[in-house]
Amino acid sequence: MSIPARFLDELRTRLNISDIVGRKVRITRAGREFKGCCPFHHEKTPSFYVNDDKQFYHCFGCGAHGDIIGFSMQHDNLSFIEAVEVLAQEAGMQVPEQTPQAREQAKKEKGLHALMEDATRWMEAQLRAPENAQAYRYIVERGLPDELLSAFRVGYAPAERQALRNFLKSQDYTDKQMIEAGVLRPAGQNGEPYAFFRERIMFPVMDRRGRVIAFGGRILPDNLRPPDQGDYVPAKYMNSSDTPLFFKGAMLYGEPHARQAAIDGQDIIVVEGYMDAIACFKAGFRGAVAPMGTALTEEQIMVLWKMIPSEIKVPILCFDGDNAGRRAAQRAADRLLPHLKANHSARFAFLPDGQDPDTLVNSGGKKALEGILKAAMPLIDFLWLTHTQGKDFSTPEARAGLTKTLEDEVLRIADRDVQHYYRQAFRDRIRQAFNSYGVNANNVGASYAKKTNTKYLRTGVQSAPVTNLRRPSFQKAQSIKLPLLACVINHPHIFDYVEERLGVLDMGEVRLNAVRQCVLNVIIENNPIDRANLISNIEDAGFSDVLRSVLNSSVYTHAGFCAPTADEDDIISGWDRAWSALSQMEAEQEDKKRNIIT
Ligand code: UTP
Ligand code: MN
Repeated sequence: MSIPARFLDELRTRLNISDIVGRKVRITRAGREFKGCCPFHHEKTPSFYVNDDKQFYHCFGCGAHGDIIGFSMQHDNLSFIEAVEVLAQEAGMQVPEQTPQAREQAKKEKGLHALMEDATRWMEAQLRAPENAQAYRYIVERGLPDELLSAFRVGYAPAERQALRNFLKSQDYTDKQMIEAGVLRPAGQNGEPYAFFRERIMFPVMDRRGRVIAFGGRILPDNLRPPDQGDYVPAKYMNSSDTPLFFKGAMLYGEPHARQAAIDGQDIIVVEGYMDAIACFKAGFRGAVAPMGTALTEEQIMVLWKMIPSEIKVPILCFDGDNAGRRAAQRAADRLLPHLKANHSARFAFLPDGQDPDTLVNSGGKKALEGILKAAMPLIDFLWLTHTQGKDFSTPEARAGLTKTLEDEVLRIADRDVQHYYRQAFRDRIRQAFNSYGVNANNVGASYAKKTNTKYLRTGVQSAPVTNLRRPSFQKAQSIKLPLLACVINHPHIFDYVEERLGVLDMGEVRLNAVRQCVLNVIIENNPIDRANLISNIEDAGFSDVLRSVLNSSVYTHAGFCAPTADEDDIISGWDRAWSALSQMEAEQEDKKRNIIT
């Protein structure tokens, strides 16, 4: 038929087959699929399956099988075009006119796919050609071994302006097709059309089915390019413009790999660049995708959710740790809010200043990236931080202002349930922030300071039993807990070793727990960090006074391992010993309590 493939793809992306089928047939979830009694033959036990990942239905009883359009045709007895029209209306899309030109278009697209595939193969071969050895060396030295280059079909577009054109010509493609596919620039006033991408490492962009639909190209570094370029300064990255196959705002780089990863249960992660997506993949996070030089669009958000087969659809969005990154995160939050629904959201992760996932993986390996991703915060935490961090809420007006700002955010959520729970959660947080013991009115954000992690939030500020203050057993416990905390602050390099335990260490007092949480957040965000930096971060979060009571010679006296001057060999063993002593003490107290009760 003559409706453009892109239109049909988008239709399938916007609609869930289980929603459409679910309206006409009773289906219930069964693992990754839905099942029910087949509407196309008579049966009493369900053998009709609907699969959202694969976007099809299948009946094991009668063999009925098809996609969302096929279902509408078969179930409602519609023609193809009628079914498309009904579904398009459902999805809020306008069906393109059925002109002879449109029919021509469909045929053309087929040709363009073949052209892109041939161009990709040629570029892959160019990357390995002896005359382009320095391009190959460059990309391998950036940490992409051959397997990875093949997995992402990375290639090279050489400098000669006619090389790709000549090759594609030899394969019977016309200039017109090459221009349409975006690999050739039309001729200027005098001369021939010429290659769009030159002297670039090429990253093919594939659609969900693995077909190449566009390219991104990174220029070779200056020292690998001939010096006689005049004042021409090429852009670092060039991306295909929109073509009949490619609509930038709806595509994500890395989608086929990421889809598979999501099916295998991995997180979907959104990073900024091509190299970042590949670096994540290399570090084992195969669910990484990247928009192509644009901020995340609403359509891309829908695509992300669709990529995740499990019921909980919460991709991780990664941003730079600087102000620009934070602004980009705010924009993403803005786009997300109206579309939130049950189990559909996103988490926000922030990279250390000056790093991207690519540099992080190549310097700190898998662990470094893992730490950042683990510390990703839920959307609600990000919103709360955005509106509270570093602000002064000591006046009633300022507090009312916060209430209003948060309510404005809540009102942007269209889904009634989600809206309700956001409103409730913000109210709880406001109440807690302004009433709770020990939290400064002008430091509301501190307990969620910078990066948080839900794991740590659970053991966070609120749980501390303030009533313990005067018991002797409490004093004894503190004489162990304070050195444990002091030790991590004085020797942040032990963090990786003690992270899990520090995460569950209840300091027994609100402000101390807040400091402990601040330490976790700061280190996770900046690992590795040195003592001086860590301390100034904690002070910036408003904890100078508490810090003085932790980093204190009276704390060090009976626990030399935690002093700044401790012997390197003592630090870890001292921490382990103190932790064991504390566990034992708590176990004994537990026993005592139990004996009193029984
Ligand atoms: P960056 O400038 O952060 O580059 O652009 P990078 O990904 O770290 O690249 P390397 O590590 O230097 O190779 C991030 C993304 O922004 C888009 C590209 O999609 C790139 O991957 N971009 C950047 C452009 O579209 N055009 C540009 O000129 C630069
Ligand atoms: Mn980079």
